[in-house]
Amino acid sequence: MKKRSMMFLGIVLMLMVILSACGSSEETSGDTATNKEEEEKKTLRVVTDAAYAPMEYQDKGNVVGFDIDFVKAVAEEAGYELEIEHVGWDPIFVEIESKRADLAVSSITINDDRKQTYDFSVPYFQSTNKILVPDGSDIKSAEDLKGKKVAVQNGTTGQAAMDALLGKNHEDIKKFDDNNLAIMEMESGGAAAVVADNVVVEEYAKNNADKNLTVIEDETFDSEFYGLLFPKGSELVEEFNTALNAVIDNGKYEEIYQEWFGSEPNIDILKEQQ
Ligand code: ARG
Repeated sequence: MKKRSMMFLGIVLMLMVILSACGSSEETSGDTATNKEEEEKKTLRVVTDAAYAPMEYQDKGNVVGFDIDFVKAVAEEAGYELEIEHVGWDPIFVEIESKRADLAVSSITINDDRKQTYDFSVPYFQSTNKILVPDGSDIKSAEDLKGKKVAVQNGTTGQAAMDALLGKNHEDIKKFDDNNLAIMEMESGGAAAVVADNVVVEEYAKNNADKNLTVIEDETFDSEFYGLLFPKGSELVEEFNTALNAVIDNGKYEEIYQEWFGSEPNIDILKEQQ
């Protein structure tokens, strides 16, 4: 009797092993199916200038920032994988114009000049230029920049604002490939101020309290909006606009914004622009 029940137990155990093996093989094939789906997701090449914290910058070899989380959320919504590469500011425009990259995210202001050569998504972020100076500087407004050396990143709206204020190619405008180099120029005494996007100079002053820097607002600087940049005629624009709006409407945008800025975004102002 004992022997027989042992045998029975043995058979039951064997059956369980066989069944669980079947189960797991089914699971494996299930996994392969989802892997396949993921593989089929098209990978897009995204270029950026990751020297513009907190929007896009490098941290331990990774490109991170608000823009990066944002573009990833939008791509996920649209069903794409991304390969994000730091190429620098001027190369972004070369990569996009030549269609070597599918899109760029880099705090890029939407303006008429750029619209002639590129396509943009709908606006996703409001910005304006601000002036970064050492504490105690006699510069209190844009007007006070006249007669002073001003460092800007080459080819940005900060440079355009200085061209408009001081005159195009004025010798007092010191242009740098990367915004961090413009800030270093001011810190080493080669320029009296830096003009760049508000979130970037504000973050820099806040994170470098020991450097005693002040950020000055001037209402003569335009209100600007960032957009994702695409090659002219790209079919991705519409898909990304739909996904971008979905990310705004489903709360994901706000979540990412809160994570990076600790405050609520003004969604209405973005929607008004569409
Ligand atoms: N918003 C400005 C522009 O479009 C500056 C952007 C600079 N971005 C960067 N990642 N360096 O001209």
